[in-house]
Amino acid sequence: MTIETRQTKPFDDQKPGTSGLRKKVPHFQQENYVENFVQSIFDVAPKEPSKTLILGGDGRFFNREVIGRVIAMAAANDCEHVVVGQGGILSTPAASNLIRKRGAFGGIILSASHNPGGPNEDFGIKFNTANGGPAPESVTGAIFERTKAISAYRIDPDISVDLETLGETDLGDLIVEVVDPVADYAALMEELFDFGKIRDLFESGFTMAFDAMHAVTGPYAHEIFEKRLCAPEGTVRNGTPKEDFGGHHPDPNLVHAKTLYNDMMRSDGPDFGAASDGDGDRNLIIGKHIYVTPSDSLAVLAANAKHAKAYADGLKGIARSMPTSAAADRVAEAMGLPIYETPTGWKFFGNLLDEGYVTICGEESAGTGADHVREKDGLWAVLLWLAILASRKQSVRGILEEHWQQFGRNYYARHDFEEVEKPVAERFMAELTAMLPQLGGKAAEGFQVRSATDFAYKDPVDGSVTEHQGIRIRFEDGSRAVFRLSGTGTVGATLRVYLERFAPGPDGLDRDVGEMLDPLIEAVDALVGYRRAIGRMEPDVVT
Ligand code: G1P
Ligand code: ZN
Repeated sequence: MTIETRQTKPFDDQKPGTSGLRKKVPHFQQENYVENFVQSIFDVAPKEPSKTLILGGDGRFFNREVIGRVIAMAAANDCEHVVVGQGGILSTPAASNLIRKRGAFGGIILSASHNPGGPNEDFGIKFNTANGGPAPESVTGAIFERTKAISAYRIDPDISVDLETLGETDLGDLIVEVVDPVADYAALMEELFDFGKIRDLFESGFTMAFDAMHAVTGPYAHEIFEKRLCAPEGTVRNGTPKEDFGGHHPDPNLVHAKTLYNDMMRSDGPDFGAASDGDGDRNLIIGKHIYVTPSDSLAVLAANAKHAKAYADGLKGIARSMPTSAAADRVAEAMGLPIYETPTGWKFFGNLLDEGYVTICGEESAGTGADHVREKDGLWAVLLWLAILASRKQSVRGILEEHWQQFGRNYYARHDFEEVEKPVAERFMAELTAMLPQLGGKAAEGFQVRSATDFAYKDPVDGSVTEHQGIRIRFEDGSRAVFRLSGTGTVGATLRVYLERFAPGPDGLDRDVGEMLDPLIEAVDALVGYRRAIGRMEPDVVT
């Protein structure tokens, strides 16, 4: 081994966002940009309980290059064992599983999730800690501080690893082990779900379309759905991962998975449609003639989890991010389960899962997961839906409608205003925050404000407090609007406005979502003037 210490100068923009450091590829290609961030991770992360590192990414452009550099740096930074997915591939939940299974001190995951890939598109580096989850604020904060002070990084420039051949290579002080990215993950899914029952469902003629969006879940989905669960070949679409995701956004929503959506709206279409994102942690669920919002999906999965082997004895509790609709709260209340409301970002679920406070968690942004890993998990959500469908022998629509009858319906939408100039967006949020004390009790268009607050979260496990996690305006009729700025965008600022109205049922459960929310939007705009402040009347994306 030849360890070199190379001089470098700090960058001032390496603050990890909602899920790691995310920038355009050319930004990452600046000299030492990757090395500085990776060295800062190695400097900050304690090598406990072992000196093993898990490494992989979603296969996007620049993935392989960075995998090579991280291995060369790991060799010079006191790692003893690097477990890397073949070809540099690991889905985010598969990486989380490997960290836990191998007792690693952490994992480096290369992904920009659902953002596009390619030479001028997005890239990201994320560090997960020994519990398998995204590094908590204390660690990402320390990494950021380190990036601002760094003056040198260490590397073994002679190391190059064949990422295609499975098995171990002994490089002296470091063992590099190339593993099948799918094997351990698929085995975990077989532990959680009764594959025999889901196989029977497919054998009965039930049809599914799964869109892997040319992203990382392709190989996982082929193996699990088509091989192990015997769904017919062709069930998995766009199942070959590409560095640029075929030129599309690997974002499983109704805009980017439009073909799937259109097929699901046809009478002769499949019975069940699903998709996952770039790195395999998000999910989209569509039934025949019906889209299931992620907030509703969380509620339905929680209410029906007992239909799956792993959750037959019931759940410990439910957690949702603050902007996620309160549909899951109604389930928790009815089932007598604790419910936790956390800031946006999966890392806030980590302590709740580690301590056994909750079993299942979800975010409105198509993220659902449970205590089997410490990341949201796209294929897991699809499998839990399949387990429920196999057991209840009803359609997705039937299940959803019965759910609303029982618990009421939370009409919900998220409006994204993208690429707003950063100073404009920040000024609006500051003005809104200043306005909060005056909003209480005010009314517009028939909606009266009950409370208006700047959301802060106190972690019930470690007592840490995270402030300024979104502005929440609650109305007397149970409606709600939330404003926050995205922490994952790479250009300008994205303002997210989350809107929600509750219908207790049994009437009013089949209204048009837009019709239900329009009056609320007008009321909120009359109160806070957000459209004028940012100079936009219509959102770029509605989910
Ligand atoms: C977005 C989602 C959030 C999710 C994150 C990472 O973050 O809103 O729920 O955890 O991506 O997938 P945002 O851009 O809103 O900060
Ligand atoms: Zn993702």
